[in-house]
Amino acid sequence: MTKGALLYSGKAKTVYLSEKPDELIVSFRDDITAFDGGKKDQLSGKGASNAKVSAFLFQLLEEAGIKTHLIRMEDPTTMRVRRLTMVPLEVIVRNRAAGSIVRNYPFTEGQVFDTPIVVTDYKDDTRHDPMINDDIIIALGLLTRNEIAIIKEAALKINSVLKAFFENIGLDLVDFKVEFGRCGDDILLGDEISMDSMRLWERGTMKSMDKDVYRFGKGDVMETYTAVLNRICKE
Ligand SMILES: Nc1ncnc2c1ncn2[C@@H]1O[C@H](COP(=O)(O)OP(=O)(O)O)[C@@H](O)[C@H]1O
Ligand SMILES: [Mg+2]
Repeated sequence: MTKGALLYSGKAKTVYLSEKPDELIVSFRDDITAFDGGKKDQLSGKGASNAKVSAFLFQLLEEAGIKTHLIRMEDPTTMRVRRLTMVPLEVIVRNRAAGSIVRNYPFTEGQVFDTPIVVTDYKDDTRHDPMINDDIIIALGLLTRNEIAIIKEAALKINSVLKAFFENIGLDLVDFKVEFGRCGDDILLGDEISMDSMRLWERGTMKSMDKDVYRFGKGDVMETYTAVLNRICKE
């Protein structure tokens, strides 16, 4: 593997060029942040656990016919991916009410939605990732109406696959966030899917098995992440 010039260093991953113009090298770091970077720590092994879970779930999604940026793992914290022009949106799918949707609207924590709810946020930490609607997405020239439909449909398909998978290993998929990017005429799933980007509750309880453990000091973060990793990868 040839790690080329640094392209971007985000809150939890660093992205490098590779020897091929259409491929990038993503390094999952041990940094963990919450509240728009307001809370920050380093947890040994966190990068590797998120990388492994992401790679596993991307593969699972590929098998279900969803195109992702994953090419292969180069080492435990390093993923080779297709280079995408990222769409600056966070596409969030919610099966149950938790987090911001409970703060912002009169839902009860844990309330099950009859139909999954898809929400889009504009990805911009300086603006605190404001919620965005279809008309604003189009006015900003981020996506066409047809592309919005394609992305929402992909997000719901991802939800069906992941929800069923987690149910099998005793975890409730409460919600998750994904990011997409363009690759030629295609729109692919990019970034990561990990305990940082999903809410997972121990089945039948509301016990957090995800980054809420870090956000709200609910217990040992790495113990939780490792437990989820072991359950996922024993599958
Ligand atoms: N395949 C890809 N091609 C280009 N950029 C990507 C790809 N996958 C993810 N990214 C971007 O790389 C960055 C990953 O680092 P991360 O630490 O998550 O950053 P951030 O703090 O912006 O969320 C994100 O900005 C993400 O949108
Ligand atoms: Mg990120």
